Amino acid sequence: MKKLISSLAAITLAVTVFAQGNNYVQNYTKYPGLAATPPMGWNSWNKFACNVSEALIKQMADAMVTTGMRDAGYTYINIDDCWHGDRDSLGFIHPDTKRFPSGMKALADYIHSKGLKLGIYSDAGSQTCGGRPGSRGYEFQDALTYASWGVDYLKYDWCNTEGLKAEGAYKTITAALRKAGRPIVLSICEWGNDTPWAWGQNVGHLWRTTGDIYNCFDCIEDHGTWKSFGVMAILDKQEGLRKYAGPGHWNDPDMLEVGNGMPANEDRAHFSMWCMLAAPLISGNDLKNMTPQTLAILTNKQALAINQDTLGIQGFKHTAKDSVDTWYKPLADGAWAVCFLNRSSKPVALNHNWTIVTDTLSHRDFNPTQEKYSVQNVWENKKATTTNTPLQAVVPAHDVLMLRLVKMK
Ligand code: GLA
Repeated sequence: MKKLISSLAAITLAVTVFAQGNNYVQNYTKYPGLAATPPMGWNSWNKFACNVSEALIKQMADAMVTTGMRDAGYTYINIDDCWHGDRDSLGFIHPDTKRFPSGMKALADYIHSKGLKLGIYSDAGSQTCGGRPGSRGYEFQDALTYASWGVDYLKYDWCNTEGLKAEGAYKTITAALRKAGRPIVLSICEWGNDTPWAWGQNVGHLWRTTGDIYNCFDCIEDHGTWKSFGVMAILDKQEGLRKYAGPGHWNDPDMLEVGNGMPANEDRAHFSMWCMLAAPLISGNDLKNMTPQTLAILTNKQALAINQDTLGIQGFKHTAKDSVDTWYKPLADGAWAVCFLNRSSKPVALNHNWTIVTDTLSHRDFNPTQEKYSVQNVWENKKATTTNTPLQAVVPAHDVLMLRLVKMK
């Protein structure tokens, strides 16, 4: 009998271990305690594509400080694709020595000396999307290398991954980063193909929900074998995903195109909606040559406070009527952000009566019948009104009216 019980126990253990895969050997969970609010920073791709170099990255770090963006909360300076040189005879990766003559450790030291953090880019496959060496088969070696350089953030792409399973591939790099021992934010860039929101919460700190953003308000750009998406197209692809986001694990609707050519109203609408979505705010413009208007959008204190709110609850679309979408986002201390997005190319006049709105996900009520809220315009420095009077305003074409509503005593 004893023998039977112990063989049964052995079988149960074997089945459990088999069912869990290799979980008992590695720690496949992301570094804890990072990205409590959506990460903020800059990335080279949207503006500079493959043209990255030590000189450019240093200039952007300098501009992050001198423009006041660092003090507004932007922290990460992220080098995207094409920094790579070759692997050496032992397989260790090195930066392109022409572009990064001082090496990555020196660049990380420089960036850290400015009170900023360094992000780098790799790919789960054999090659990156830009054809540089990928991390497939070198995950632990690469993680150790990044940690030794002082990297703080890794964007991990999904090109050339034939035969790989996304969840397993991202768990492998997470295990490698954990083993390397440095707190590194992991940005899962798998374009939402294999529902990263469903398995990403313990694996990475943010996950792309869509293909690449394109610098236009309302378009889809067909590149033949792949498509990229304008701001409205990306926004519409976020439907149903808000329940997966929260402190430490964010839906990522891709990096910002603010300052890359859209008119100010469209940039403002784009930025406002990313704030309502509690999206990572990774600017993608030339920080050295931006207009005061672009800077004012990227550093608007009230918009940033809505994005960075400590509750970390992603906003939701409440109504869509006459080409105006109305979004709500619960904030700390019973406050709310409300954003009217005019998707049409004509101005729309609003005459809005404040009514009760319930967020069934967070179980929070906006209740202007029982409470009085002050109504503060985020983008215009106007005297606050209250929810006791209907809201009357005109929302210009492709623009927003964004408000912060705070309970009055
Ligand atoms: C993919 C990613 C982009 C960018 C490029 C680099 O398309 O989704 O964000 O990193 O690769 O090649």
